[in-house]
Amino acid sequence: MSSFSKRGDIAAFLAMDVMAKAKAKSRAGEAICHMEVGQPGTPAPLKVRQSAKQALDDQILGYTEALGLPALRERIAKHYKQDYGVTIDPEHVVITTGSSAGFVLAFLATLDAGDKVAVPQPGYPCYREILKSLDVEPHFLSLGFENNWQPEIAHIEQAIHKHKIKALLLASPSNPTGVVMEDALIREIAQLTKANNVWFIMDEIYHGLVYDQQEMTLAGFNEATIVLNSFSKYYSMTGWRIGWMVVPPHVVRTIEKLSQNLFISPPCLSQIAAIAAFEAKDELEDIKACYQTNREILQNGLMEVGIKRMAPADGAFYIYADMSDFTDDSLAFSQSLLETHGIAACPGLDFDEANGRFMMRFSYAGPKQEIVEAVKRLKEKPLS
Ligand SMILES: Cc1ncc(COP(=O)(O)O)c(C=O)c1O
Repeated sequence: MSSFSKRGDIAAFLAMDVMAKAKAKSRAGEAICHMEVGQPGTPAPLKVRQSAKQALDDQILGYTEALGLPALRERIAKHYKQDYGVTIDPEHVVITTGSSAGFVLAFLATLDAGDKVAVPQPGYPCYREILKSLDVEPHFLSLGFENNWQPEIAHIEQAIHKHKIKALLLASPSNPTGVVMEDALIREIAQLTKANNVWFIMDEIYHGLVYDQQEMTLAGFNEATIVLNSFSKYYSMTGWRIGWMVVPPHVVRTIEKLSQNLFISPPCLSQIAAIAAFEAKDELEDIKACYQTNREILQNGLMEVGIKRMAPADGAFYIYADMSDFTDDSLAFSQSLLETHGIAACPGLDFDEANGRFMMRFSYAGPKQEIVEAVKRLKEKPLS
């Protein structure tokens, strides 16, 4: 038999595996509380859907420029001015097929096989697995209650000098913890990485979903920073597969060539519709207010059923909870939680191969009734 490639031998995305099982149960008529994936329970904003309908009737919807529709790139640049007071040249904005494709483009543009990249642990599992599939070695920066889930400068310095990383990849707000990094820390890291010729790739996909403070963007900060973002989370457009990057000027042409060859262009209909997402602030802020209510219900509910420690959950729509009183095998725990309580949640092992066996991630992006119901079930049938 022909053999598979070693680079294809990567781990499954456990959240998606749990979702597939939970969806099968829902289809079979079971009332499942879906808290496994980070996906808004709402459709794209009305203005986005109206714009898409119009485009379907009026436009050809062919390939676009590989870097994306100029009108969308300009609108994104305007968003940086309006929301952060940061001037970005539209020429440095690259539209991608979700931030997922953005990662592939950013990694291919900056890294070679055999390079090392520092990533947070816990962190979004696909960082680690995409890197592995490109023969790039992840170097883990360990986060936990002891460092308030924020990366430590000493660890980054060590990664740079001892492990010779070529890039550092961080997210703020973070998945799975929801932690928002301090502005001063982000700036310090950006200066440190630039001074050492290390790329700083920042995942800002959960921007817009920060509840009690203002987030800073790293877009355009210096020529060693690459920012990724997406319409999937705040803009409630997961299935439209549309995101963007802000890259330094000298990287644009490399990314353009990669995008031409790998994807030709991001989806045209989604690009046209995404322009309208920036005019849907009222609707999106209402959705965000629902997340905030859900967060409170879930945090309180989890504490009431005996879960004593959780990461701060400043932003995004997740609670990363310490389940060590109940399990040391979060994968088995997530399976039994689905069977016994009809609650689908994600095992910490997805995000952290070292300590994730004690942790579970609960998403509160779904409808409030499902969060309320999940808490009710946890109270009725105590965790053992
Ligand atoms: C931290 C983080 N980055 C990137 C992604 C990928 O999102 P998309 O490809 O939909 O933009 C996700 C999805 O859950 C995520 O949580």
